[in-house]
Amino acid sequence: MKHLLSTQDLSAADAIRILDTAEEMAAVGEREVKKLPALRGRTVVNLFFEDSTRTRISFEAAAKRLSADVINFAAKGSSVSKGESLKDTAQTLAAIGADAVVIRHWASGAPHRLAATDWIDAAVINAGDGTHEHPTQALLDAFTMRRHWARLHGTESQGTDLSGMRVAIAGDVLHSRVARSNVWLLRTLGADVTLVAPPTLLPIGVEEWPCKVSYNLDDTLEAGVDAMMMLRVQGERMNASFFPSTREYSRRWGFDDTRLRALDELGLKDTIIMHPGPMNRGLEISSAAADSPRSTVLDQVRNGVSVRMAALYLLLSGDTRETVPATTPSS
Ligand code: CP
Repeated sequence: MKHLLSTQDLSAADAIRILDTAEEMAAVGEREVKKLPALRGRTVVNLFFEDSTRTRISFEAAAKRLSADVINFAAKGSSVSKGESLKDTAQTLAAIGADAVVIRHWASGAPHRLAATDWIDAAVINAGDGTHEHPTQALLDAFTMRRHWARLHGTESQGTDLSGMRVAIAGDVLHSRVARSNVWLLRTLGADVTLVAPPTLLPIGVEEWPCKVSYNLDDTLEAGVDAMMMLRVQGERMNASFFPSTREYSRRWGFDDTRLRALDELGLKDTIIMHPGPMNRGLEISSAAADSPRSTVLDQVRNGVSVRMAALYLLLSGDTRETVPATTPSS
C-alpha cells in the first residue's frame, strides 16, 4: 500500500491488518511508552485546506509517537490565500522533504489528484475530501466497533471482522464523507449496514451502495441495532431546501432522550452510540445520549491516534511483518 485514499480500495485483509496494527499501537500506549522510534528521520506534513480538530491533532500525535518530524500546514494564513495552487503547494512540500502528506481538502478527489501526479513522491493519506471519503475516520470507527463486538462475545478483537454486527448510520448522509467511507469498510468487514435519513439528505445513486436505506429511525431501532452512528448535520454545506425545521429534524432523525430510553425498552442493552464529531448537541444527538455510558464518542477520538499510528507506520516503515516489532521506547 503506497497511499491511503479510500476505503473502497481496501480488501478485508488490508483493513484487518491496519486494525490489528492499531491494536499493537494501542497496547504500546497502554504500557505508558510515550514514543516508538519507528519513523525517526521521516517527515509527516499535515496539509489542511479545511478546519479540523480531531483529525489534525490525532495525526500530529500519531506521527510524534512514532518519532517522526511533523509540519502542520493550514491553508488559512498560508500562500494558498494569495492564490497558490495545490500543485505549487505540494511541490513546495516535496522540496522540504515530506515522506507523507496527510491532506484534508474541500474538493472531493484532491488527495487522489495529489497521489496520481508526480508533483510529490510521498505517501498520501486522505484526511477528508469534500463530501467524498474520510478513510481513517471509518477505520477508527471500525476499530471501536470491533473492540465492542469482541468484548460482547468474550473474544480477542485481533484478526476478526464485524460479521453479523448490525450498524445504523443516521443523518446527513448527503454531505457525509464519514458515511460513505464507513458503508464501504463496514460491508467489507461483514457488517450489516442501514442508512437512515430524510430523502433530501440522501445522495443520488445511494440504492447502489452496499447497504439498506430507511427514512425511519424508530423502525430501524425496533429491527435491532448494535451500533448507532449519528452524523453531523453539515449546515455549512447546505441550504434551507435540504432541511426540515431544526425541531422537525431532531424529532424525526435525531438521537434524542426518548430514543435513548427506547434502547432499554427494546432490550438493546449493549447498543453503542457513536458520533464522529464535532457534534451539534440538541440537533442530531441529545446531550444525554452523547454523554451516556453507551456513548463511544471519546473512545473514537482515543482510538483515532492508534489507527493513525498504524496507517503512518504501514505506509512509511516499509515493514511487511504482520505485527509491530517490539521496539525500545525512545522516551
Ligand atoms: N471527525 C472529524 O473528522 O473531526 P474533525 O473535523 O474535527 O477532524
